[in-house]
Amino acid sequence: MTQKEDHKLIGESPAFLNILAQVSRVAPLNKPVLVIGERGTGKELIAERLHFLSSNWDKTLIKLNCSALPESLLESELFGHEAGSFTGAIRRHIGRFEQADGGTLFLDEIANMSIRLQEKLLRVVEYGEFERVGGRETRSVDVRIVGAANMDLPLMVEQGKFRADLLDRLSFDVITLPPLRFRIDDIPLLSRFFATGMIKVLKRGFFAGFSDSAMQSLQEYGWPGNLRELKNVIERAVYRNEIDEPIDVIDFDPFESPYRPRRKLSTSLSNKMDAESPLDHPEAEKKIVGLPDDFKSYIQQHEMQLLQIALHKYRYNQRKTADALGLSYHQMRAYLRKYPALKDKIE
Ligand SMILES: Nc1ncnc2c1ncn2[C@@H]1O[C@H](COP(=O)(O)OP(=O)(O)O)[C@@H](O)[C@H]1O
Ligand SMILES: [Mg+2]
Repeated sequence: MTQKEDHKLIGESPAFLNILAQVSRVAPLNKPVLVIGERGTGKELIAERLHFLSSNWDKTLIKLNCSALPESLLESELFGHEAGSFTGAIRRHIGRFEQADGGTLFLDEIANMSIRLQEKLLRVVEYGEFERVGGRETRSVDVRIVGAANMDLPLMVEQGKFRADLLDRLSFDVITLPPLRFRIDDIPLLSRFFATGMIKVLKRGFFAGFSDSAMQSLQEYGWPGNLRELKNVIERAVYRNEIDEPIDVIDFDPFESPYRPRRKLSTSLSNKMDAESPLDHPEAEKKIVGLPDDFKSYIQQHEMQLLQIALHKYRYNQRKTADALGLSYHQMRAYLRKYPALKDKIE
């Protein structure tokens, strides 16, 4: 795949088009933006688009993952250090803020930054000022911050794990990316896009498509790894498939094998419960792997996901969908009022 195609944003579902519109609106403003979403939902691609649609598109875009480094290294990566500021700091080091001056700094997994560094970050965001580690001179930069997180930052503020004042400053606008399971109408388009990319890599002539049952299984799967997982699954399916035949079988799990070494997983949920609990049963253990931070939104997300899968399966026919789920037509209508996003395709 060419560099350019690798950075293309594909999708035409209403949920995704709304995101693109929001990105185009906020990109030209030189304000901080947070991009929130589960892993693999496209946060980094969105950050790139924010930069390339900004007025500083011809300046540098610098990326840094805040959870990849221990605190002191992250500090000198961000702000730089002077020679001799700590053991091993032989030369002066220019930090990412200075490198990104005039452009954009993408801070991935920002929720993992320590409270102390959050404080230092707040000062740069607010006044554009900081000192290199071990340095006295105050430096000024003009950098647009785009932060990414896959956690509930307001909840982290409540728990004392994220600074409220920093969150206020970073969240001039917040772009929340939908998980792939809420964009199942985009799955055929995305699958074809990833497949033809792989066909080119393999230097095969043409792509014979997917069988109906293969496409159905792609649309019914839950995609915990979102677009990254879809891309891997499709690329693997293409390369394993017979040349010139439509893809009929999808292997979701490359580790699946009768020889796979098994280890019993102890789940956080079963650790929290006593032995007599009715849930402390192998079947329950298999399905629930941890307690949700927010019970109501957890239940709502699952409710909405199941409804969406069912609606899609029954081609948005409300009566058939209701029957399949054991709901009355009346109850089905109530759910659609509860989740207006599901109503797009109906009527
Ligand atoms: N809308 C999209 N269209 C095409 N490819 C996408 C899209 N969103 C994400 N991808 C691809 O999915 C993978 C994961 O995207 P990434 O931006 O790294 O996700 P995140 O940062 O949220 O984990 C990348 O290979 C990216 O190119
Ligand atoms: Mg990422």
